[in-house]
Amino acid sequence: MSELTVFILAAGLGTRMRSRRPKVLHHILGRPMLVPVVDLALACQPNRVILVLGHGRQQVEAELAQRYPDLAFQVALQEEQRGTGHAVQCALATHDRLSDGNSGEILVLSGDVPNLTLPTVQRMVDHTRVQKSPLGLLTTTLADPTGYGRVLRDDSQRILAVVEEKDASVTQKAIREINGGIYLFDAEFLREGIAGLEAANAAGELYLTDLVARAHQVDRPAVATAAPEPEEVLGINDRADLARAEAFARKRHNASWMQQGVTMTDPERTYLDASVRLAPDVLLGPGVALLGETEVESEVEIECGSVVKDCTIGRGARILAYSHLEGATIGPLAQVGPFARLRPGTRLGSRVRIGNFVEVKNSTIAEDSKANHLTYLGDARIGRAVNVGAGTITCNYDGRQKHPTTIEDEVFIGSDTQFVAPVTVGQGAIIAAGTTVTNPVPAGSLAISRVPQQNLEGYAHRRPEKG
Ligand code: UD1
Ligand code: CA
Repeated sequence: MSELTVFILAAGLGTRMRSRRPKVLHHILGRPMLVPVVDLALACQPNRVILVLGHGRQQVEAELAQRYPDLAFQVALQEEQRGTGHAVQCALATHDRLSDGNSGEILVLSGDVPNLTLPTVQRMVDHTRVQKSPLGLLTTTLADPTGYGRVLRDDSQRILAVVEEKDASVTQKAIREINGGIYLFDAEFLREGIAGLEAANAAGELYLTDLVARAHQVDRPAVATAAPEPEEVLGINDRADLARAEAFARKRHNASWMQQGVTMTDPERTYLDASVRLAPDVLLGPGVALLGETEVESEVEIECGSVVKDCTIGRGARILAYSHLEGATIGPLAQVGPFARLRPGTRLGSRVRIGNFVEVKNSTIAEDSKANHLTYLGDARIGRAVNVGAGTITCNYDGRQKHPTTIEDEVFIGSDTQFVAPVTVGQGAIIAAGTTVTNPVPAGSLAISRVPQQNLEGYAHRRPEKG
């Protein structure tokens, strides 16, 4: 079989995004839109992937280097963005420097078309090969084709040309068959045609799409393959396109998780980053966002409005409504929320309960312990079966440094206790409500620090009248 090379065009400025970030770094499902395009290119198993970069090149390269440490692709630099035809000229120059042959095929992908799938590309590749055309296009028909290149056909329905929106006549603008910007080229045809491109158009750019007309001129017309779903070839040019592409990606992504046994009360309002992993029988309420490297084991329920980033949630745990969790590990059958906040470094053992308005940071809480109400636990090591009363606070910061609080197994902490860290409480001790703990508490003892209560009898009546 002939050699396949993939070019990814990603040098454009993305003016219509009105952003300081390069367009291809804007996120879809929590990762730059260029990432699924690179993944798709690699999934085609080509001999080589050449990525055309220009605008914001350093930023793009830095992001990709993190995700593809083994540098799965070569970069072709397009210093000045003079159009898609020029971008391909740059890619071809790099390609020719790296390989000797003229033969083979070149698949051109666009960095701003992130929802394209491998089966669709395969269909286009197969169809183009069967038709023995030097140029295959991915097309679709849109109710509103505004902004896209329109596919012009001759009287025999052969593809005549692609005309860009800016250059189209009123009649041409009415055509709803559009060019998806994804192509399979015979390398020789591409090489012969690309040098002759001219910027004789409204944009003053070198249009790759002019090669479609050339194919017709040399009597080897381009062939179109229709994408099964128009959204697959949705190009992102502005923020509205980005939102549409995100919505489509989310719909498809959530459908795939539901197929794998995840229940979603309202899939349109369930937000899962591409990197999240879920087990079967996870239940997600409306408005739940699972982000980053989050992993959720089976039979976990996450109630509405909760945001969970970079967390591991053990089997059967429940996250009640409106909780915010980041960088936490939650043990099996634990219960968190409603309105709880877990910050990085939180590790909860099995069956731990964290209730409303409780904040935990960089703390380990062992199995069967509870902190059910209005509490701050920071830099703490808490043993098992500890009861943390309402309003308990670790005073972990002295204005300069953080200090640890250690609470051993089966300690009972009364409400409104402060632990002035560093401090340690021994196994089974009891802290009386309202105590400020400043010294170590030995195992099995009661710690109490209170000002003795005074009652001034009849005081209320003796108080002078107001005003
Ligand atoms: C292009 C097509 C249009 C098609 C549409 C599909 C051309 C002339 N037009 O239009 O027919 O309907 O895609 O989405 O090709 N790029 C570079 N260097 C440049 C210019 C662009 O690398 O100098 C890259 C961009 O980063 C982008 C891709 O090429 O990823 C497409 O460029 P864009 O300017 O978005 O083209 P469209 O106007 O959308
Ligand atoms: Ca585009």
